[in-house]
Amino acid sequence: MVGLKRIPSGIHGLDEKIGGGFEAGSVISLLGGPGAGKSLLGMSFLYEGLKNGETCLMVSFEESVDDLISDMEAIGFKDLKDFISRKKLILLFNSPVNFEYLGILDIIRENNVSRAVIDSLSAISMYMDDKSKFRKFMLDLVTELKGLKVTTIATDEQPQVSDNDTLYFSGEYLSDAVIKLFYTGLGGDFDRSMQIVKMRRTNNDRSMLPMRIDQGGIYVK
Ligand SMILES: Nc1ncnc2c1ncn2[C@@H]1O[C@H](COP(=O)(O)OP(=O)(O)OP(=O)(O)O)[C@@H](O)[C@H]1O
Ligand SMILES: [Mg+2]
Repeated sequence: MVGLKRIPSGIHGLDEKIGGGFEAGSVISLLGGPGAGKSLLGMSFLYEGLKNGETCLMVSFEESVDDLISDMEAIGFKDLKDFISRKKLILLFNSPVNFEYLGILDIIRENNVSRAVIDSLSAISMYMDDKSKFRKFMLDLVTELKGLKVTTIATDEQPQVSDNDTLYFSGEYLSDAVIKLFYTGLGGDFDRSMQIVKMRRTNNDRSMLPMRIDQGGIYVK
């Protein structure tokens, strides 16, 4: 589409399947079960930004900053302490209880953050007592992030069984793109896979993409 800016995703092999990269300023929902690779995919997306001189933010509700750094090092991302000391990489470990995103928006504005990861929405929704409250929270958050033009990945736990409740709790309908990660543990080509469920304004690949994680990052083919 004319005038649409694409940015590299940081996932080897993905950009060519989504028209050149993620749409700049879009909000992407990333769904998957435990160990599917959600956090690592978010970190790969941020590391790509760091390599390009961007300022990147990760808000984690589940892992400490030290654990986040160790996770990133395990997939080959180096010089993280240097990026952190130069305030190019901002890692925040937040409590999901009564989470107020206004402080996060201030950090994004003050540091000119262009890529952000929120890991995970499920952690926040767990502490919100009703569905409509969470949906309103999501709508406000997505609107604010889009206003700031920060490209954002928000991770969400994918239930193992079909559960209509998640339709209310997740931000899938509000976000520009939905990516699902699957982990079978069976080995072989489809031990891990990725499906791009939706990507607005993009003629994306719709097939199941075999995915691999190693010390060089995340790969799809
Ligand atoms: N260097 C590596 N080589 C191969 N696989 C790796 C490597 N580092 C991590 N992994 C795999 O990535 C998985 C963790 O991925 P990640 O933390 O992104 O999952 P997640 O979807 O965020 O899970 P959770 O819902 O528990 O937070 C590990 O369980 C491991 O299988
Ligand atoms: Mg995780």
